[in-house]
Amino acid sequence: MKYLFSLFTSLVLLQGTLSAETWKNLVPKPANLTPQTGNILLEKGFKTYLTAPQFEDEMLWLQEKGWEKLFVFPIQPAQKVLTKQDLNQAGVYFLHDASLGAEAYRLEITPTQIRLTASEDAGMFYAVQTLLQMLPAPVFGTSDLELREYALDCVTIEDQPRYGYRGLMLDVSRTFYNASQVKEIIGWMAAHKLNRMHWHLTDDNGWRIEIKKYPQLTEKGAWRGVGEATPPAYHQGNERYGGFYTQREIKDIVKYAAERHIEIIPEIDLPGHSRALVGSMPELSCKSDKDYITINGETDNVLCVAREQNYKVLDNIMKEVAALFPSQYIHIGGDEVELTSWNNCPHCQALVKEKGFENSRFLLNEFAHRMEKILAKHGKTMAGWEEITEGEQHDPNTLFTAWHGVKEVKVCLDRGYKAVMQMAEYNYLDMKYTPAERGHNWAAIIPLEKTYSFDPQALFPDEKYQEQILGVQAGIWSELLAYPARFIEYQLFPRTCALAEVGWTPVAEKDFEDFEERLYQKHFSRLYHMGISFRVAPPKVRYENNLLHVTAPHPSAVVRYTTEGSNPTAASPVYCATIATDTPENFRFATFFGDALSSITVAAENIELYHYLQPKTTIETNIPFRKQEELQTLLGSYDFKKVARTTRTLKAGDYLTYTFEEPVESSRITVETGRPGITFYGVTYGYVEYSTDGVQFEKAGEFRYNTVTFQPEQPVKAVRIVVTDVNDAYMAEFQNLKIECK
Ligand code: ACM
Ligand code: ZN
Repeated sequence: MKYLFSLFTSLVLLQGTLSAETWKNLVPKPANLTPQTGNILLEKGFKTYLTAPQFEDEMLWLQEKGWEKLFVFPIQPAQKVLTKQDLNQAGVYFLHDASLGAEAYRLEITPTQIRLTASEDAGMFYAVQTLLQMLPAPVFGTSDLELREYALDCVTIEDQPRYGYRGLMLDVSRTFYNASQVKEIIGWMAAHKLNRMHWHLTDDNGWRIEIKKYPQLTEKGAWRGVGEATPPAYHQGNERYGGFYTQREIKDIVKYAAERHIEIIPEIDLPGHSRALVGSMPELSCKSDKDYITINGETDNVLCVAREQNYKVLDNIMKEVAALFPSQYIHIGGDEVELTSWNNCPHCQALVKEKGFENSRFLLNEFAHRMEKILAKHGKTMAGWEEITEGEQHDPNTLFTAWHGVKEVKVCLDRGYKAVMQMAEYNYLDMKYTPAERGHNWAAIIPLEKTYSFDPQALFPDEKYQEQILGVQAGIWSELLAYPARFIEYQLFPRTCALAEVGWTPVAEKDFEDFEERLYQKHFSRLYHMGISFRVAPPKVRYENNLLHVTAPHPSAVVRYTTEGSNPTAASPVYCATIATDTPENFRFATFFGDALSSITVAAENIELYHYLQPKTTIETNIPFRKQEELQTLLGSYDFKKVARTTRTLKAGDYLTYTFEEPVESSRITVETGRPGITFYGVTYGYVEYSTDGVQFEKAGEFRYNTVTFQPEQPVKAVRIVVTDVNDAYMAEFQNLKIECK
């Protein structure tokens, strides 16, 4: 029975044919919604009336994205000037009401009319977005439904956003997304009523914006690879890779975003995070012979702030940036500047002395003042990360992007500037959803509910802050997004849906369970039809009294399973009742949305899946490690959270051998490298060999995604990692071996 129910529900979700209460399941939830009795049946011959010409674009949007996809018959918008009498006719009306706020709208559905009312285009655009969500989910897809009629339930919606700034920060430096991918993301943002894209265009890892005056910035700075201005990273091996946007593409993207009422705020990350800039124009760097490694593992990534010619270069760059982006703001970064190069640069130290600064940290404030003046010359206001609020005051209109914790952000707010909240522990969507999933965790593990729970007013309740806080944004840093394919979509959705509701919906209307219900009832289906490869939540599995009990993430979700340790597929049986078994360790489960999307694979959380052996192990290597003296204890500990870090990039000829005191009998040995759980800083080029006598070695396999797994036939005395080519990160991390018992 449950099987049938699940199958049926999934079909319904996919086809989006739920027709009852069409005003339900809106995301973000409107501020005020009052269901009315009755419905309106749209069928051949229904008319659309534009009463204010300013809304023609929105009318055409609804025409093209809604009616034409829905109906088999053509709909002709009535173009005539309306009389009072016309307003009483049956039909769809676009109406103007100057008393509404710029992003506010009213949407009234009566048995004879659909009335969309706004004062400005943005409000009308959101009215249309809401109405589109009342249509079957496949209208968000690429094919036409060809219906002959469709009924909408009557409702009155009075809606407006909680915050005027509802954004997404997109890092295109670490992983490059081409113009059409960026447009796709902008389209998804618009469907969620987001209205700002903070475009992180430059960083250590790539300069992504064409600057005509300095073509070297993209000729060199946009590409990584062996012998390039920036070395390869993030498992691209030794390929040359990267990319940038031409100014023509940027203009096109800015226009595309504006059509969707999204303003783009460009970021040129300075004076730290400038490896791609300094790599392309080395003269901009400090005169310092001290090496340093930044918190992100970069070297030589700071601009000299005392070299006067640098400001001419930055002025020329900002002039071109300002001309491309109509936004009031240009974001100049300012985050995480590593002070070593300033501390050791005679020019920077002379400036510290001249200004009477206590230390080099004050140079950041000095730099921001210079940038503020340059931006003002080009008609722009400065935005930056929290760090730009330090020191002597800037223009009070300066905007900072908050990213640290409550305590630090409060200090910045007390300096009086405007703020956008992108607080790492809620809004950094490159963090993991759960410990078992891929992603970073340095800021927090961020399940959907955590992003949904974000409320700047609750964190900073003081009345005086409310005017300063312009709004909220999600941020996605892209170092872990190069693979698997479309992982950015997994990280963004559905957490971006939650952020959209944080930014739009009044706190009193927010309710996580209700939000989740709307996702499962319809919004996932919309995302699916938009073509988003969103994250599907895994089931929870427990083993008790010889029974496997599975809890799906939602009653409508379909869970499938396998009985021999492999990943479930769309062809695997559906879980419908507890499973009796003596071998729970062989079962694997995953949630499915349709056939195409599935969750990570899980096993029962309360059983030991593997018994790992812990033989006494000695390590021998020719690679220099950070804690060389602890190498033995780190890699012989069989504590899988422990890693040993090299002090340099791996190269051909590097090796590391694990030798066991006695040969071990094992069914399977897994050699994982890199940071546990996030497949980063691992061995990109290399192989594993093993020996039964410690003398003769036999090849076990090449590394793929940092890992080699092999099944030895005989007891193993030693396992060796051999590096065959330059690897792609500035360091590597080695882990303990996973040796399964026979
Ligand atoms: C940041 O995360 N460095 C703003
Ligand atoms: Zn310097």
